[in-house]
Amino acid sequence: MNPIVIAPSILSADFARLGAEIAAVEQAGADWIHFDVMDNHFVPNLTFGPMVLKAVRPHTRLPIDVHLMVQPVDALVEGFAAAGADLIAVHVEACPHLDRTLQLIRSKGKQTGVVLNPATPAAALDCVLSEVDLVLLMTVNPGFAGQSFIGSVVDKIRTVRRMIDMTGRPIRLEVDGGITPATIGAAAAAGADTFVAGSAVFGGKDYAAAITALRAGAAA
Ligand code: DX5
Ligand code: ZN
Repeated sequence: MNPIVIAPSILSADFARLGAEIAAVEQAGADWIHFDVMDNHFVPNLTFGPMVLKAVRPHTRLPIDVHLMVQPVDALVEGFAAAGADLIAVHVEACPHLDRTLQLIRSKGKQTGVVLNPATPAAALDCVLSEVDLVLLMTVNPGFAGQSFIGSVVDKIRTVRRMIDMTGRPIRLEVDGGITPATIGAAAAAGADTFVAGSAVFGGKDYAAAITALRAGAAA
């Protein structure tokens, strides 16, 4: 099993102080930074693009995990790769030529991730698992921070854990949405090893305490 990763989502940070917020969660013990890109087309919200990634990149040494909730995807991959993404994750629901998109990400020297919405079955991974470094299972319907964890996804986490173990490769299994000290344990027990948290980290004042509470919840 991979070591646990906690990836605060800057979707819940103070956008007026983004560089400082990222530095603060790094200082507080975060492992990765999660960068949520929304386009008001694939999801009903609008966030930030490669220029913002480029601006924040010098503010942290942590890996930046870019979650693209956009359609079409391919035209943006180059921009995010050049702006300093370490991993680029794309939704199967947004990519008609998923294999091509994953090859494109790889060709830019970046790690690849594939994302499934809560209603998308694990079988959608069957033909792409050999191409990815990370699988992200959404535990909310994407678009907004602060939603409730969808418990029915836990069975899918278990299924995907088995699929990953069968490959023998250290593919990370990430969950995103409604992750709190109260919900993280169920996701971890089912086999997730990488945890995105927006409001659970940035919603309070003490980021270090929030990250410690998440780690404790994952280990419980
Ligand atoms: C949802 C985003 C998440 C979101 C998580 O569409 O992909 O990364 O920021 O926020 P919380 O942890 O508050 O559910
Ligand atoms: Zn996300």
